[in-house]
Parts: sequence; structure tokens; C-alpha cells
Amino acid sequence: MPLAQPLTLLALASYEKGHRFLQEAKRQGARVLLLTSESLRHTAHWPMDAIDEIVYMPDVEKKWNRQHTLNTVAYLARREQFDRLVPLDDFDLEMAAFLREHLRIPGMGETTTRYFRDKLAMRMKAQTAALSIPQFVHVLNHQKVHEFTERVPPPWVLKPRFLAGAIGIHKVGTAEELWRHINGLGDEQSYYLVEQFIPGEICHVDSIVDHDQILFAVPSRYGRPPLEVSQGGGIFTTRLAERGSPVAQGLLRQNQLVLSALGLKRGVSHTEFIVAQADGKIYFLETSARVGGAHISDLVETATGINLWAEWAKVELAGGDGSYAVPPSRTDSAGLLVSLAQQERPDTTSYQDPEIVWRMDKRHHVGLIVRSPSYERVGELLDEYARRVKVDFSAVLPPRALPSD
Ligand SMILES: Nc1ncnc2c1ncn2[C@@H]1O[C@H](COP(=O)(O)OP(=O)(O)O)[C@@H](O)[C@H]1O
Ligand SMILES: [Mg+2]
Repeated sequence: MPLAQPLTLLALASYEKGHRFLQEAKRQGARVLLLTSESLRHTAHWPMDAIDEIVYMPDVEKKWNRQHTLNTVAYLARREQFDRLVPLDDFDLEMAAFLREHLRIPGMGETTTRYFRDKLAMRMKAQTAALSIPQFVHVLNHQKVHEFTERVPPPWVLKPRFLAGAIGIHKVGTAEELWRHINGLGDEQSYYLVEQFIPGEICHVDSIVDHDQILFAVPSRYGRPPLEVSQGGGIFTTRLAERGSPVAQGLLRQNQLVLSALGLKRGVSHTEFIVAQADGKIYFLETSARVGGAHISDLVETATGINLWAEWAKVELAGGDGSYAVPPSRTDSAGLLVSLAQQERPDTTSYQDPEIVWRMDKRHHVGLIVRSPSYERVGELLDEYARRVKVDFSAVLPPRALPSD
């Protein structure tokens, strides 16, 4: 339904993403402004027919100066009345919250944003809500870190609080190794936490939320754990969990607990869990208030017909007025495979199963999505393709290209 009164939406995108969000916002009748990185000016292919105005921020490796960004947005606000301010990339969340607070624009503020960006804040909040989480400690007080290593058996992971795509994560087996890494961090230490490594299957739930209610949620299971793929190289896969299976139900339950404990009022979320190998217990790994990285939205759309980016635009524009409803969805199963390829233009024409519904068009990458009513068939195809892709194309996938980020 078109908006009764056109709203003005400012999207922040330090990286190029969220085309479907911008297109849907325009389709809904909004005035759409995009603030993006100067370094993308000549390379990004933004859907210009959906954008009324594009403004570039000078950046150093996609990072913007806070004060300069505020100045730019305040300057724009002399002639625009921003009704919505939406971060399209994970790294834009804090900036968006900071600007909303300053300009008094509705939406998630700085306190809640922390729980969806800062891995330490999400751990601490989850702990107070008695969710199952790996034991953890902030790398701040060394005595506390020592106590942790005495109390919690290794291996542990040392991880940055604010990064994604498994960047900067170290899995360590001894206290000596841990301290070597910690000491090497110098003044960066307080930006890290250490947690217990829990062997298991890494899963994710991708949700749409409005009025503090999860209106749509799809549980999926990664193939090999993202940490292994990003650091050991290899093929990334994920697929929808079997509908109604105990794992799917458990993931949906935990997802509900996490999002309500952390306070997501509306929007979308990509939340990850570990299903422990030892006993099947589900641990909360991390969450975010954004669409899952790279092609998870294509996977979800393939299986359900729901595009998370487009729905997010509708939820944001509705702004909690009660008018948003999720469209009817399908219940197919689907799987996604992504690998870096040695060949610049890898040729996948010999991959011919009728279940292939999408192929990635990106240099030095192979990516496929398969769809079937049968969960088992999707698994078979992914296993087979993972084997074949390894032989035909395989190279190591760089972390930022990981769909799990
Ligand atoms: N406590 C843990 N136990 C087991 N594996 C973990 C743990 N923490 C992280 N990992 C591994 O590292 C990956 C990335 O960690 P995560 O916390 O999701 O950060 P990122 O934002 O980089 O994705 C996970 O997908 C998983 O493979
Ligand atoms: Mg992750």
C-alpha cells in the first residue's frame, strides 16, 4: 500500500548493499536519499531510479568521521525532514543510532544498538536474561582473564567485539598462546573478549520483527563452521533447517528469547547459534539488526518468496503504525554454496540440475542456490556440488566475501 504521506528516508551505506531495500522504499512512495562512501563513487552500481539524491562521505577504508558525518546530515536536514534513517551495512549501525539520537529521529537508539553490534554487550545482556551462552570474559582486567583461563577449559576464542566475517578471531589451545595474542594487541585489548570454544554446528535464524514480535523467521544450518571456512579456506554452504525438526524448533525458540532479551522492536535480524556437538544444546553465538550477509537473503527468498531487504523497507516505513504484515510465503527447502574460484569467469554450465535457481555473477566466484520441496534433496545437491566445486574451481575465500558476515 503506498504511503499516505510521503516519508523521507536517509539510508547509510558505507559498503554497497541493500539495492532491494532502496527500490522497495521508493516503490512505497518514500523520498529516498543515500549517504555512501566517496570511495564507491565510481564502482558502485546503485539503483539510481530508486534514489532521489546520493551524497558521498569521504572515507578511509569505508570508515567515516563521526563529526563530519553529523555535519553533512545536519546540513542536509536544513532542507530535508528525515523521517527514517536506516543503516544498510552492519558497520553503519552505530553511526545511524548516533545520528538518530542527535536529530531525534525515531528508530533504534544507541543503547539498544549496542546489543546488536557489540559482541561483549550482547553476551552480557544475554547472561542477565539467563540465555545459554559460551562462558566469556572481557579482555580488560588481566586478573579476570587469568581466572577465566583457570576456570574454563580450552580451547578458547579471542574475538573482536565489533568485527564480522570471522575477521580477527583466534582459536587458541593454551593460556600461553592466548597471552601471546593478547599482549600483541596492545591498546586494542579492550576491544576484545575471550570465550569458551564450543564445538558444534553453526546455525542462523533470519527474522522480520515488528511491534516486538517476530513475524517471520527462517532457521538455517551452515555447512562447515564459518571460522573454518574463512581461516582454513574451502567452500561455504548454508541451507534451511528441516521444517518442524527439533533443531528448527529449538532455533526458533532461542531466537525468540534472544531478540526479546536484547530488545529488537522492529526491523530484521540475522542471529547465529551453536548447536553443541556434545549434547545438542543450543548456545547463542551472536546477533545483528540487519539482513544476513551477502546472499542469505537470496537463499531465504528462494525458499519462501520473502525478500528480507524489501520487507525491511516496508517495516521501517510503517514505523510501528500497525499496518505492516508479512506477505504469504512458500515452504520450500533451499541451499546456498559460495566459493572463490581460480578462474576469473568460472563456467558452471556443466552444473545442470533443474533445482539450480540462481548462479552468482561475480568475478572469481562460484555461487549457486538450489531449491527443492525436499530437504534431503537439497542436502544431496549441496554435498555433491561442494565436492565438484572444490575440484573444478576452488581457491581460498577472503573473509569479507563470506556470506556469514
Ligand atoms: N564460542 C565459540 N565456539 C565455537 N565457535 C565459535 C565461537 N565463537 C566464534 N566461533 C566461530 O567463529 C565464527 C565467527 O564468530 P562470530 O561470533 O559469529 O563472529 P563474526 O561476526 O565474525 O561472524 C563462528 O561462525 C564460529 O565458526
Ligand atoms: Mg558470525
